[in-house]
This record gives sequence, C-alpha cells and structure tokens, in this order.
Amino acid sequence: MASVNPCAAEIASAVARALGGDVRADDLKVEAPPRPELGDFAVGMFAVAKAQKQPPPALAAKVAAALQPGELIASATAAGPFVNIRIRHEWALRWLAKKALVPAIGAGKVLCIDYSSPNISKHLAYHHIRSTMLGHALAELHRALGWKVIGINHVGDWGTTHGMLLAAYHAWGHEEAYSPLDITALNALYVRYREAMKADPDLNDAARGWFKRLEDGEAEARALWQRFRDISMQEFKAVYELLDVHFDHEGGESFYEDKMPEVVQMLEAKGLLAESEGATVVWLPDEKNPLLVKTRDGTTLYATRDLASALYRKRTWSFDRSLYVVDRGQSVHFRQVFKCLALLGFEWATQCEHVPFGLVRFGGKKTSTRGGAGGPGDKPMLLKEVFAEAIDQVAPIIAEKNPEMDPATVGATAKWVGIGAVVFANVVPQRDRDIDFDWERATSLSGDSGPYLQFTAARCAGIRRKAGNPPSQVESADWSLLTHDAEWAVARRLLDFGDVVARAAAACEPHILAHYLLDLAGDVSRWFTLGNDEPQLRVLVDDPALRSARLALVEIVRHALEQGLGILGLRAPERM
Ligand code: ARG
Repeated sequence: MASVNPCAAEIASAVARALGGDVRADDLKVEAPPRPELGDFAVGMFAVAKAQKQPPPALAAKVAAALQPGELIASATAAGPFVNIRIRHEWALRWLAKKALVPAIGAGKVLCIDYSSPNISKHLAYHHIRSTMLGHALAELHRALGWKVIGINHVGDWGTTHGMLLAAYHAWGHEEAYSPLDITALNALYVRYREAMKADPDLNDAARGWFKRLEDGEAEARALWQRFRDISMQEFKAVYELLDVHFDHEGGESFYEDKMPEVVQMLEAKGLLAESEGATVVWLPDEKNPLLVKTRDGTTLYATRDLASALYRKRTWSFDRSLYVVDRGQSVHFRQVFKCLALLGFEWATQCEHVPFGLVRFGGKKTSTRGGAGGPGDKPMLLKEVFAEAIDQVAPIIAEKNPEMDPATVGATAKWVGIGAVVFANVVPQRDRDIDFDWERATSLSGDSGPYLQFTAARCAGIRRKAGNPPSQVESADWSLLTHDAEWAVARRLLDFGDVVARAAAACEPHILAHYLLDLAGDVSRWFTLGNDEPQLRVLVDDPALRSARLALVEIVRHALEQGLGILGLRAPERM
C-alpha cells in the first residue's frame, strides 16, 4: 500500500525523479529509519536496484547526491542501500496545523459492516464486546478515511432455536419463575428446554414444529416471537447506548425471510441444489461438507439467510467492501457462503470478507451466554456487569485524584474511563488472539491501557486550561521555535496518523491504531517530563511566542488522541 503520509508521498516523488527514467513513486517504500538519529525517513533501493541490475548502495549514493535541499527536504545521505532523509520540521508542522490528519482516500466508496449481531432472547455476554467494538472500530476507521459506512446488526432472531423458545414458553411460560418475562427469564426458558430435550427427543420435534409455525406466519407464534424480540432489543439498546455504538440497519435474520425464496430459486436455476439426507444442500468446490440451504422440514437456515442478506446488501448499498466481524468459529460458514455466492456468478463475492477474531476467556474459561462454560449451572459474565464493576473500581481513583471535581463529573468521568479500560483491553491485542481478561490490566490507569491514553489526552486539556484556554494557536504558531528533539518526536509521530488509520482499515486490524496511540502517548509523556528538570522546556514558559508554539502542538496532540480514541470507541475526558 502506498503511503498516504504527505511527506512520504513527496519524498517518494523526489526520489523517483532523482532516479530518473521509469521509476514510479508508488513503487518506492518510504519508511521510518530504525533510529531517529539516522533521519526522519528512509528509502531502500532494493527493488529498483534489482530492476536496473545495479548495486543498491550505488543507487543510494546517486539519489543522495541528486536530492537538493528544498522546501521539504533538509538533507539526504546515503547509508548502504538506504537513502536517509531529514525533512524541514516547519514544513511538517505547518501541515499538521491543518488538523486534517487522515486523508479522505475512501471518498466515494461504500462499506457494509456486519458486527455485534447477537442472538435474541439472551443477554449480551462479555464476549460480545469483541465483535461489537472491533466492528465499531473498523466502521469508524473507514469513516475517518471518507468511506460511506453502513453498520449492520444482523441479530439472530430467526431459526430453530426460536422454535425451542416458543415451545418452552408454551410449556412453562405461565410459571411464576418466568415473570416478569425479561431477558433473564427468556434465557432460563431456553436453557431448561435444551436440558429437557436431552431426555425427551419428542421435544425436539415440538421445537421444530413451532419454528415451522413461525415461518408459516401463524399469528400466535408470530406475536410471541415479536414480544421476545422486543424484550431483547430493548436490553441490547441499553448496552449499545452505554458504548455509544449505533447501527444503520438492525433488520436481523428475520428481515430476510421474504428474500430467501429468490436466492433458493437462483440456486435451483443454476442447478446447484442437491439432496442430502432429506435436506437441500449446495456442494462446493474443495469443501468436505455441503452448505445447508433447507432442512428436511423445508425450513430455512442460517446460511440461507446469509446468502439472501449478502445479495440484499449488494443491491441496496452497492458496497465496495462487505465485512463480517464474527468469531473465528464461523470461518467455515463464511467461506462456504462466499463460495456459494461465487458459484451463483456474483463477481462481488470477492468483496465479502470474514473478519474473524479470537475468544475471550475469563479466568481461563470461555464465556458464553447459554449455560456458560461448564454447563447450565455456570452464570455467564454479562457485559453490563463488567462495565458496572469497572466503573465502580475507577470512580474512587478519579475522585481521589481530582478533589475539586463535583460528584456528577466524577461519575461521568468514571463511566468513560471504566468503559474505556474494558473496551481498550479488547481492541489492543491482535484480532486473532484469544484474550484472557484481567481486571487489573484492564482498569489500570498506567501502562498500556485505555485510561493511560485518556489520561494523556486529559493532560493536554489540563495544560491548555492552565494557560487560560486560549483560542487556537495552530494558525499563528511560529513553528520554527520548536527545535527540541522531544518536540519533533511528537510531531514526527503525528505525521504517521493517516497512514496508521489507512493500514488498520485495510488490514481490518484496529490494534494497529491502538499501538500507535500508545506510542504517541509515550512520546508526549517524554516531552512533558522534560520540563520537570528543565523549566525552559515546559510548555507554559514565559516567552509568549514559544509558549504559543508549544500550546499549538499540545492542541494537535489532543485532537489526534481524541480522534484516535473515538475511532476505538473511547471518549477523551477533559480531566481525570
Ligand atoms: N448471530 C450470530 C451469532 O451470534 C452472528 C451473526 C453474524 N452475522 C452474519 N451475517 N452471519 O453467532
């Protein structure tokens, strides 16, 4: 991927010109040198050297000699196969001052993203945080790059499990234990039914019968199902609101009910349907098992709905990319669905991507909502309970550190920080890794945590407050005054922001941004710490011009942290 960093792009053009002939700027890799003393950027000559059959150091020497200092480039030196380049800090700072850190390279493109997508009639368990927040971050990463994003909550509100729930309610719903009928009661009914089914296989048929009645549109089944759905959605909404997560489409699986016959007909017309043990299936290239399209009762399946929903999304939003943020346990499912779409002749099947992620483990166990890890006795760890606990842990710390803060602000800040801790702990590891949840790590206010980033952002706000919250200084700042290495390290890091967002979006890896923000916070903290020993290096020095330039850099840092945290689903409080 070509760099979207403005300096890197200009450097690539300049180096291409220096090389002469038919070298394209896009083919040059502009990187950060391993150590900042070497320069701000480095360009390796390997690929060009190979194409031109010349030794890389000779080409590096040629480029270094040809590159003249100019508005952007301050100096260029050859170091073996690399050309190391220093840029004029003022150029970079003037660019940063525009505060448009992320270029709109996605303008005109459409992303459909399916995330969170829990099953109804059970609580949002802790593990739902991963799909929800990885999906949220991926949606925001693309939005930041100018994509039009359609966020889709494909709730599991259709299928045989809903037959089980209807059968369970029919059998025991009148019992006092299930009143009021809330999401806990619904889940209890389901768990009881599933247990009972083990002993009595007839119950299986009863559940299938109920799902058939539901699919056939029978009034009683429909009304009950709708009630279960409403109860569930209300419960989910409360958690999404806490997280500030919003969707553009929440139709869920049931939405595709009337859209499935068309896909089944298309499969039929292409001669792709086969029978297997009474069920209707599609055999796919290089797959051991077929894709199930209809059960032997003629009812539809999860996969049938995913075929219909993919087609609906393409037709409705004409996406350029369609993501499914779903745990890696469903990899085979998505691979098969995409293969089936390709067999149907849809070229856009290649634009569909499963974005898998690893498990969340609590005390070594996998968390689940239905029956928990060790069987029906285990209580699942609920997402809302984890947030409540995190907020409780953080609140006294915030209150202690901010004695002047009123209780309402302490509460609001604790909410952001508590949630921020938990959210960050889930987006900072590589997506495919399993996560062992650790309270201490997640709620720590220092170390590689969300609160550490929030604290850094609050520190920036604090410095500006101490300066009397002056109007923005970025336009008028005299950037030439920022000559210290620690200041430049911060600015140099900020130049990478757009590249980081672009890479994280392309690879569907929010952790790239999470780690970048930690690095940025580290640079900022080193800069701020300098002032402890050397008062002339403080931001708030007496010299008005220097103070103004430093305040301007603080302002850009705060802006970047706020934007980066926002993408990851964290708020940046003013104080903490
Ligand atoms: N409801 C499913 C589950 O909880 C996830 C749905 C993911 N999206 C999809 N289009 N299949 O496992």
